[in-house]
Amino acid sequence: MFAITGATGNTGSVIAEKLLAQGEKVRVIGRDAGRLARYVQKGAEAFVADITDAAALRRAFEGARAVYAMIPPNFVTPDVRSYQGTVSDALASALRNAAVTHVVALSSFGADKAEKTGPVLGLHHLEQKLNTLPGLNAVYLRAGYFMENLLPQVQVIRNFGIVGGPLRADLRLPMIATRDIGAIAAELLRKQDFVGKQAHELLGQRDLDCREAASVIGNAIERPGLAYMQLPPQQLKPALTQMGMSSSMADLLLEMSEALNSGYMVALEPRSAQNTTPTSIETFVAEEFVPRFQGKAAGA
Ligand SMILES: NC(=O)c1ccc[n+]([C@@H]2O[C@H](COP(=O)([O-])OP(=O)(O)OC[C@H]3O[C@@H](n4cnc5c(N)ncnc54)[C@H](OP(=O)(O)O)[C@@H]3O)[C@@H](O)[C@H]2O)c1
Repeated sequence: MFAITGATGNTGSVIAEKLLAQGEKVRVIGRDAGRLARYVQKGAEAFVADITDAAALRRAFEGARAVYAMIPPNFVTPDVRSYQGTVSDALASALRNAAVTHVVALSSFGADKAEKTGPVLGLHHLEQKLNTLPGLNAVYLRAGYFMENLLPQVQVIRNFGIVGGPLRADLRLPMIATRDIGAIAAELLRKQDFVGKQAHELLGQRDLDCREAASVIGNAIERPGLAYMQLPPQQLKPALTQMGMSSSMADLLLEMSEALNSGYMVALEPRSAQNTTPTSIETFVAEEFVPRFQGKAAGA
């Protein structure tokens, strides 16, 4: 049996679906039985647990051949660092107490750094904590910048007619679709052919900058020439908090943006067949962005 945290989320849902399609036994973990029901219909066992609850996670992990571990983002908590610390403590404690031997943990490029990477620092600490567990074989998937981060731009384009954000327009980033992370995690969990602790970067189909991403979006939504505009942190912070984000999360996202813009937070591995994944920005935009944009347009 495989235990999957964040099973209703971007990466976890792909893992759960893939393993179930392969006839594997799956225990899906989340906060709400209703949201997990679609997997139960396909033969999964649902386990309702909060990711901060070490005792519940221990029960959720008991008997698992392998675990998919991730820290769900929490955009509203007043103290993101403290929340991430609680979650990584709970995950480490549950993995240890349930005597799990194999874990695939979601991390990020930049998790090698011990400071100044915003929310990614929490993933650095998760890796560090799992490193202390003897007998645990672990792969840390250090994923690139999620293409899903572009989805809130649906509203920005509708309101302002541009794509906007804190990143430099010409900053080339490894952008990855979360479906590709899920596919690789599912394969690793099923095969369990890893020993010791290791980090693997996943860099998406190619590096691209925000200008190119905006151009791909513009072509796909029949707004050719759609521009990307870098916005200053002092303008972005109030916008983020107005959208409901905590001040703590907004500060950390801006810290991460600075780490990216300055070149401090970078992928360490040269691009290779191993860290390159199939989904292009064109495919992501056509299959994920455009339907949301059209949905908003229809509902507007
Ligand atoms: N954005 C990026 O560019 C980027 C890049 C690299 C790494 N990352 C990392 O990727 C991770 C996010 O992965 P993802 O996109 O797959 O996740 P996600 O879709 O945002 O969320 C995963 C699931 O976690 C569950 N969840 C939320 N709070 C919970 C709680 N308190 N207890 C139990 N479950 C909870 C939610 O399910 P329920 O509502 O059903 O409980 C949610 O569907 C983060 O750790 C982030 O730092 C992000």
